[in-house]
This record gives sequence, C-alpha cells and structure tokens, in this order.
Amino acid sequence: EQEMEMRVREIKRVLGERLFIPGHHYQKDEVIQFADAVGDSLQLAQISSQNSEAEFIVFCGVHFMAETADILTGDHQEVILPDMRAGCSMADMADIHQTERAWAKLQDYFGDTIIPLTYVNSTAAIKSFVGKNGGATVTSSNAHKMVKWALGKKERILFLPDQHLGRNTAADLGVQESEMAVWDPALNSLIHEGEMAGIKVILWKGHCSVHENFTEKNIEQVRNTHPDMKIIVHPECRREVVEKSDMNGSTKFIIETIKNAPGGSQWAIGTEMNLVKRLIKEHPDKKIISLNPYMCPCLTMNRIDLPHLLWSLENIMEKTPQNIIKVGKDVSDGAILALDRMLARV
Ligand code: 13P
Ligand code: SF4
Repeated sequence: EQEMEMRVREIKRVLGERLFIPGHHYQKDEVIQFADAVGDSLQLAQISSQNSEAEFIVFCGVHFMAETADILTGDHQEVILPDMRAGCSMADMADIHQTERAWAKLQDYFGDTIIPLTYVNSTAAIKSFVGKNGGATVTSSNAHKMVKWALGKKERILFLPDQHLGRNTAADLGVQESEMAVWDPALNSLIHEGEMAGIKVILWKGHCSVHENFTEKNIEQVRNTHPDMKIIVHPECRREVVEKSDMNGSTKFIIETIKNAPGGSQWAIGTEMNLVKRLIKEHPDKKIISLNPYMCPCLTMNRIDLPHLLWSLENIMEKTPQNIIKVGKDVSDGAILALDRMLARV
C-alpha cells in the first residue's frame, strides 16, 4: 500500500496542473488523501465548472457525478472514473424511457401545469429530459430553494428520482401529505390513484439504498441509550426518520453542524459510513456514533479505492487513459439547461 501511495504522489507531482482529482465526502480515506478538492455533490459540480486548466479530471465519486463534471467542463478536458462499476442505485431507479412514458401520461392529466425537477443523483439522460422540459436539477443543499422556485412557476412538480428528498423538502415547505403522491414507474401510474387535481408534488418511486437503512427503531434505541445525544440525518432518509431526528440536512450541513458543535456534545449521525468514520476521527472531543450501529457503507462509492485510482493515473502516464466519461452532445445540451437553472440560483 505504501508503494502505491508513493506512486500516486509521484504521478501527481509529474502531472501537476494537468491533473485534477475531485473527491466526494463519501469516498474512502485512502482515496480522499489524494483529492485536490473534497466536497458534496453541489460543491463538486461547481468546482468542476470552474476548472478549465486540468486536462485530466480523475473523478473520485460515482458515475452520475463524473457525467455532470463532463457536462460542465470543456471539450479539451477528459473526465475519468477510476472504476466503471461505481454507479448509484438511486440514479438507476429512474430510467429515461420510463420517465418519458410517465411524462406523457402526466401531460394528459395536467397539461402545462407541471414542471420536472431532478436530484443531481440521476443519469445525464434524465437531467437532459428535465432541462428540455423547462425544469432544473437540485442537490440536497439547495432542494428547498429549487422546489420553491419550481412551485412558483407551475402548479405542480414531478420530482425525480428520490421520493424521500422530495417528500422531506416539500413537507418543510408546507405541502401536505395529501397533496403528494408517489409515481410507480413499473405501473406507470400513481400508487394510489386518488383526487389527481389536488396533487402538488409527484414523487418518483426511488430511494437511496444507504440512507433507507436508518430506521425509527434506530432512533428509539439512541433515545433510550443516549438521552443527551442529538440525532442528525440526511434528507435522503425516510420521512418518519427525518421527523423524529433533531436536525436534517445535506452532507455539507451535517459536516458544518458537527464542526461548529461545542466540545463534549454528543451526536448520532444518519449518513454514509466513510463520512461518519471521518467525522469521528476529526472530532475526538465530541462523542459521535452512527445512527445505525451496523454503519451504512455506499458499496458503489467504495468501489473507488487506491488500486483503481493508481490504475487510472498509470494509464494517463502511459498516454492510454481508460474509463473516459463522455456525454453525447444532444444529452449534454439538455442537461446543461437543467444544471444552469440550478447553478444560477445557488
Ligand atoms: P450530497 O453530496 O448532495 O449530500 O448527496 C449525498 C449523496 O448521496 C451523494 O451520492
Ligand atoms: Fe447513490 Fe445513495 Fe450511494 Fe449516494 S449514497 S451514491 S445516493 S446509493
């Protein structure tokens, strides 16, 4: 391992400004130590759009993030994903064909009174679909702002692909549970077909397989065993979990809250394992545990490890870069509309 680390260091030194390594907070420490910028998905999107120098952007995160980086960077820049198996199960839950099929039906019901929004955790094809239909992307750190924007433009929204982020955000903005409905792509209809006219928020039936592992039972357990502990969770968690926690917010919000908390304070955190472990290490003066005692790793984020990072860098050195992420022009043109509508507002 030490040898691999030395080699990565050496390649970084040789390539200098020609190489840029963004890393998501959920990445392993063995990778994060080499990241030139660490951030949540919004920060990484912004950083990528601002970097016009690097020839090679070796993206340590998951596939949809690398696609976004490719869309937001210049044609002279190559975005590389160290392991193509680093996907996202949530992004995979919204397929473009299902989405187009759903949209056609929703247009029949609602005509021009509906606007699509997609969490950035979605494929470039979905972002493009949303962009071409007047909508925008959102991240967990600007979801409130973007849902408010969309509901100011149209009477209702279709929120893809994470039902939990959509529901939690809409509920915070005062939308009633009775004004929300879940769209099941397998049925190509709402799960409960009720009074359609009153629906303001249609939630795509997708979820994050990591954040769904935090349960009300976990909350009860912490309340019983650590009565002074504060519970903070990501809004990709289920509504009941978010409601019973003390605070909820994006990855960035969680990191900042823990950083600014007084020494001696106690926290149970409901988010991805690598980040929770890092927060435990970085804040020895605070008592921090995972809300789910079995921890919750994101298996696809974890596919990016030191050997894969080194492999990508060696390929660049040998002038045969592999795993280049290239989004086609038609898709990219639509996706950029959706991303720009978000980036202009944050
Ligand atoms: P954020 O980085 O926007 O908080 O998203 C969390 C996540 O699940 C990334 O895949
Ligand atoms: Fe996807 Fe969830 Fe993993 Fe994020 S944490 S990459 S949303 S599966």
